[in-house]
Amino acid sequence: MIRHLVSIDDLSIEEIQALFTWADRFSEDPRGQSEMCRGMIAASLFYEPSTRTRLSFESAMLRLGGGVLTAAEMTSSSAAKGESLADTVRVVGGGYADVIVLRHPSEGAAQLAARYSPVPVINAGDGAHEHPTQTLCDLYNLHVERGHIEGLEVVLAGDLKYSRTVHSFAYALARFGAGIVCVPQPGFEMPEYVVRRLRDEFGVEPVRADTRRLGTLAAESDAMYLTPQKPHQLSLFTDAKGWELQQVDALYMTRPQTERFDQSDGGVSKYMRLDRRDMAAESLRDAVVMHPLPRRDEISSDIDEDPRSIYFKQAGRGVPIRMALLSALMGQIELPVNNSPARESWPVSVGANPCPNPSCISHTEPRHVQPRFVLASRQPMRARCAYCSRELLYRFVGCATTGHYHLPESAALRKVRPENLVFLPDEEQAAVLNFSQAGVRGDS
Ligand code: NCD
Repeated sequence: MIRHLVSIDDLSIEEIQALFTWADRFSEDPRGQSEMCRGMIAASLFYEPSTRTRLSFESAMLRLGGGVLTAAEMTSSSAAKGESLADTVRVVGGGYADVIVLRHPSEGAAQLAARYSPVPVINAGDGAHEHPTQTLCDLYNLHVERGHIEGLEVVLAGDLKYSRTVHSFAYALARFGAGIVCVPQPGFEMPEYVVRRLRDEFGVEPVRADTRRLGTLAAESDAMYLTPQKPHQLSLFTDAKGWELQQVDALYMTRPQTERFDQSDGGVSKYMRLDRRDMAAESLRDAVVMHPLPRRDEISSDIDEDPRSIYFKQAGRGVPIRMALLSALMGQIELPVNNSPARESWPVSVGANPCPNPSCISHTEPRHVQPRFVLASRQPMRARCAYCSRELLYRFVGCATTGHYHLPESAALRKVRPENLVFLPDEEQAAVLNFSQAGVRGDS
């Protein structure tokens, strides 16, 4: 079976740890691995700019003895002639390359590519959605610097709304049992759909707290999220006044993702900035400072020489961890059996596409994408887009076999098989599709 890496959730904790072990080996002798993927080819299909991600993948493949095909400006490829992503990956995966590394501005693009590609697809960033290989790199850095991830206190700072690196990192940190503290640039908080997923799927509970200065993380009004492993802290934060984070293990800064801003975001007049003064804070005494790069002004260059600043080392470690990933997806190294339940998705069979996200691939490439959903919760019934992870928009849920529709809270929905669920925006649409309200015509 072909393995893809679309979301960081596609890898179990055990698999990620096994990749760390391989990455450790590869970093000890990066030039001695040229037999690992000899004769294999990786294709980089990049529809958005990139320096580190593309070059570190290509370096990784070359160090493994393989070759690379680079389409770094896909906008000047057949895409400009109107070729769909689905067709492009079928061509590239059909003999040109043994693995596809894809970066695309539409959220869920890698999921779509994985459905059509005959070879493994690696998501190298899909819009503001996810960036799982940056997360592997970030986790690997924590593993190297700290020796473990569980129990670490990690601060995520900056543009948490559009930073795909932050979204994938937060999901993984939650699974590893790290504490996650969010320090958003005002107006660029962690999106609600990410928070819901953290809560529903990973058991991470959001709590309000506040930051006045980056070095002094004190409780007042910003959002912060903690793993349930620390219930004593949770109850403490409910009455958050006067609270202060004692010790940060890693501070992860991100730049404003201005290329993704829409009109409602306006501009950012004063973006947060980490400098030498902040680094003097007691809470940051042992913190490593991370950044997926590129940086703008959010980290002052006056801390570049500080031994806690690891962002350049962090980028360098992207090569051995990507070597490990490529070797694994091409079947050259074995990973432990993945016991994580696969996330099942179902087609939205009737009615309009209920995904509310205009940047989702289900809207940007409707010719090739049948909208699909995954169930986030049964009671109340909540469903997410299988491509971009946003919650679907609907007021009622119908059952295709009974022809009745219900409120999402209805207990009757618990018995309906997912393939029979129909998401209805309003009564009118329900009537058009011949659904009647449950209970009105003699059914519950
Ligand atoms: C990140 C990205 O592209 O999302 N960069 C990267 O892959 N190293 C972060 C960013 O662009 O800000």
